[in-house]
Amino acid sequence: MELPFEPFRIRVVEPIRPTTRDEREAAIRAAGYNPFLLPSETVLIDLVTDSGVSALSVRQWSAMHGSDESFTGSRSFRRFEAAARDLFGKRHIIPCHQGRAAEHLLCRAVLEPGQVVLGNTLFATTRANIEEQGGQAIDLPISDNADPKSLHPFKGDIDLAGLRQKLEESGAGRVAFVVLTLTDNSGGGQPVSLANVRAAAALCRQHRVPLLLDAARIAENCYLITRREAGQGSRSPRAVARDIFALADGVFMSMKKDALGNSGGAIALDDDGWAERVRIRLLVSEGIPSAGGLAGRDLECMAVALDEMLDEAHLAHRVAQVSRLGEQLAAAGVPVLQPFGGHAVYIDGRAFCPQLEDERLPAWSLTVALYVASGVRSWEAGNVLGGRLDPASGRWRWPALDLMRLAVPRRVYTASHLDYVARSVVELFGRRQEIRGLRFVYRPPLLPQFIATFEPV
Ligand code: F0G
Repeated sequence: MELPFEPFRIRVVEPIRPTTRDEREAAIRAAGYNPFLLPSETVLIDLVTDSGVSALSVRQWSAMHGSDESFTGSRSFRRFEAAARDLFGKRHIIPCHQGRAAEHLLCRAVLEPGQVVLGNTLFATTRANIEEQGGQAIDLPISDNADPKSLHPFKGDIDLAGLRQKLEESGAGRVAFVVLTLTDNSGGGQPVSLANVRAAAALCRQHRVPLLLDAARIAENCYLITRREAGQGSRSPRAVARDIFALADGVFMSMKKDALGNSGGAIALDDDGWAERVRIRLLVSEGIPSAGGLAGRDLECMAVALDEMLDEAHLAHRVAQVSRLGEQLAAAGVPVLQPFGGHAVYIDGRAFCPQLEDERLPAWSLTVALYVASGVRSWEAGNVLGGRLDPASGRWRWPALDLMRLAVPRRVYTASHLDYVARSVVELFGRRQEIRGLRFVYRPPLLPQFIATFEPV
């Protein structure tokens, strides 16, 4: 039965200090118009990410207090290993400090320069790790993914015809592996259906190409499968997750999103050769195989979370909280991406700011305007994150969608916090023609969103 309110009581609180518009204007100027570079005390409601910012539970804290901090052979590792083996169904469990470390280790261990990685929609760090290793990363989303008006329930699905064609035309050994990112963060937090994972796994098996999962938001993905996929309505998210893991050869996972951690990542594999190569890389750069650079208390925290993240009351509340925010915006005519995914509401920056050309970075300019107006910090997944300079023509290629993301941290904000966010966005929408564009002052060669700086035009 669903509760008519947040399914938790709040036991530890963190005050929010009010700020004025003038203070925020000064803060964003000093941060080079990059919300990532703002001091967090200047932010009222922080929706820049859902990563590493969850409120921990009583169960997590109690496990953390009982952790074993031995350098090696720690009980805390064995507890995490048992929980991860049970859920992922893989023999080798390798912890590391966060998701991108897992990606880096895997790419260094198993990807040869010149090889290709295919995916539904790779996250920016996964892509960067593949490219840094000399690989080529190719996204194969279904066409509905780029259509903000499409109500396809599984916009995160990989395009199976495209996958088959790429697997057939690539010679043996050319495709290193296929990655399904669940949910597809870069494409709007959209889920992948169980049927799509099954069909992609069959194609991979037929072509002897390993299938890996980026499982950062697997719990939300599985909950959405139980709500949206025919024949899955009576199943638990945990049962669906087990089916999905069983279809994959390996898993890498940031434990900072669905897995409710302030830090942490993990790799799960069955293949002994791959696991050995990953562990050797891990020893060089991360830590020992039974810690991966984490403290025993982090491993305890992760072990509990692998259970808690699949709790149905938690998932039902979370998904409802995100879609309620989305519905409030949609009702006021704000151009939001639908259907709503698990962790965030995405706004179409080009439709919100039609006066701004792609060069003026509509979604990024919107994040800056929203922060100044309301103190709400959001993140851009659009022209800054995905724009590429084409060396041949010297012109920019812009991504299919230029989005602003309002990511909701888990168990942190109540309905009234999110009502304020909705009111602020709607108010800004009413005077959207005042939003000014920005241009790059400093654009780093990789992952620009984290350190780039800008100026108003
Ligand atoms: N994969 C996905 C789908 C992600 O969303 C992220 C991070 C990563 C991998 C990398 O994990 O941060 O632990 O190194 N996403 C964050 C976000 C940063 O805000 O969406 P990490």
